[in-house]
Amino acid sequence: MDSQTIVILDFGSQYTQLIARRTREQNVFSVVMPCTAPLTDIAALKPIGVILSGGPSSVYDADAPPCDPGVLSLGVPVLGICYGLQFIVHSLGGKVHSAPKREYGHATVSIEDSASPLFAGLPNKLQVWMSHGDEALELPSGFRRIAISDNALAGIENTEARIWAVQFHPEVHHTPLGPQLIKNFLFSICGARGDWTPAHFIETTVASIREKVGKGHVICGLSGGVDSSVAAMLVHKAIGSQLTCIFVNNGVLRKNEFQNVQKNLREKLGLNIVAVDSTDRFLSKLAGVTEPEKKRKIIGNEFIAVFDDEANRIAKQTGGVDWLVQGTLYPDVIESSSVKGPSQTIKSHHNVGGLPEFMKLKLIEPLRDLFKDEVRRIGRDMGMPEDVLGRQPFPGPGLAVRILGEVTPERVALLQEADEIVVAEIKAAGLYSQIWQSFAVLLPVMSVGVMGDQRTYAYTAAIRAVNSEDGMTADWVPLPYDLLKRISSRIVNEVRGINRVVYDITSKPPGTIEWE
Ligand code: XMP
Repeated sequence: MDSQTIVILDFGSQYTQLIARRTREQNVFSVVMPCTAPLTDIAALKPIGVILSGGPSSVYDADAPPCDPGVLSLGVPVLGICYGLQFIVHSLGGKVHSAPKREYGHATVSIEDSASPLFAGLPNKLQVWMSHGDEALELPSGFRRIAISDNALAGIENTEARIWAVQFHPEVHHTPLGPQLIKNFLFSICGARGDWTPAHFIETTVASIREKVGKGHVICGLSGGVDSSVAAMLVHKAIGSQLTCIFVNNGVLRKNEFQNVQKNLREKLGLNIVAVDSTDRFLSKLAGVTEPEKKRKIIGNEFIAVFDDEANRIAKQTGGVDWLVQGTLYPDVIESSSVKGPSQTIKSHHNVGGLPEFMKLKLIEPLRDLFKDEVRRIGRDMGMPEDVLGRQPFPGPGLAVRILGEVTPERVALLQEADEIVVAEIKAAGLYSQIWQSFAVLLPVMSVGVMGDQRTYAYTAAIRAVNSEDGMTADWVPLPYDLLKRISSRIVNEVRGINRVVYDITSKPPGTIEWE
């Protein structure tokens, strides 16, 4: 059975991805397309419904994002949100008036027609997150008002044309009953079946990988993180031993990470893994280097060289390698294809595990349609350990960007010990999964201490714990004092070489998450 698809046209709202997530949470597959997508591309997906997102523009702006008005007569239900409502009214011949000032924030909406299928099961008064600049003054023919807020129109419908629109944002957290409204649109109006489940995704993805790869050979770079592990697992399920995973110890992994990843993925899940311990090669290249970007470059280049060597070796053994698995996620796909809205101008400067083009391998990206939380759900459904799925993000250059200044084997060992204590204590306090990243940083600052009767002169460790949605901005986490106390006392007592612990209370911006 084909998946049913909802197409979301992105007019540049910072909430567009949230709309996609809300539909998927109802087990209905959705894709985000730029609002400028050709009508033929939209129709080719055979959507069961279309949602027009919000956006920062006014329909009167010279550069107001256009969408093919044919979308409104595709013959499938349409839901406009915020700018989407203005767009519908404007392009079907109604009148939109430019309000003197934009309004954002909490509002109460009164539902005027509770018989509208969009509002089924909702109370007559709704708490919503409102955002309006323009206001629809005159509705196009066939439309009627179905909801109103204190000072503006809040919802319209044209049941014959099967078009609905709301001025508020049902997709955001601040509209507590928003999920019900979206559910109404998907199930009552569009006739969704709600069968886009992890099991369904795994089954169809595995079948399509199997068909695509045939008898070819596939390689995959494992980082130990969630994305590469789940991507590898899906391919493994499809083609078993035709997949070889390459896992490189770059010498700046966490304590026991090299062994743990192999234990989790090879021993427990049966993945075919070539584990390459290149610690000496990386650390000798890093010797004497203090500049952060130079460290990153060395680690990136060295990784490519090791990976390439291994890929060539595997190619000789298997008679050729044709495919490379990458753990690209949906937000990256949208970033590179959608219109630039206010949310999309800030870009990550990090390219995780980039591989050179000269490898000329065809790509398999089994997670291209998924958000991070969906990747975890898929992984869970395949029986992958929480240890792998719940892991906090870890940077490609690893501990090298957490050891300020030169990276030496001694410093790596010290930081591995300190970091292990931070993570273990945070896990024991039950906080690990609630925190975006929590770790230790090694500062090349020596200070004086006393230990028993002895004077010490040793390094400083900083503790960093931050919460974040996507790593672009972050807030430092106020860890409980008793937890900080335990971490500090364990580090100073157990890690010979560190005699002082400090706590980083800087948010991003102006700080960054990593210290380098
Ligand atoms: P910053 O330090 O820039 O980090 O606030 C934001 C997020 O990116 C991760 N990070 C990296 N990831 N290669 C990576 O793969 C890198 O060079 C790198 N530097 C930072 C960081 O851990 C955080 O999640």
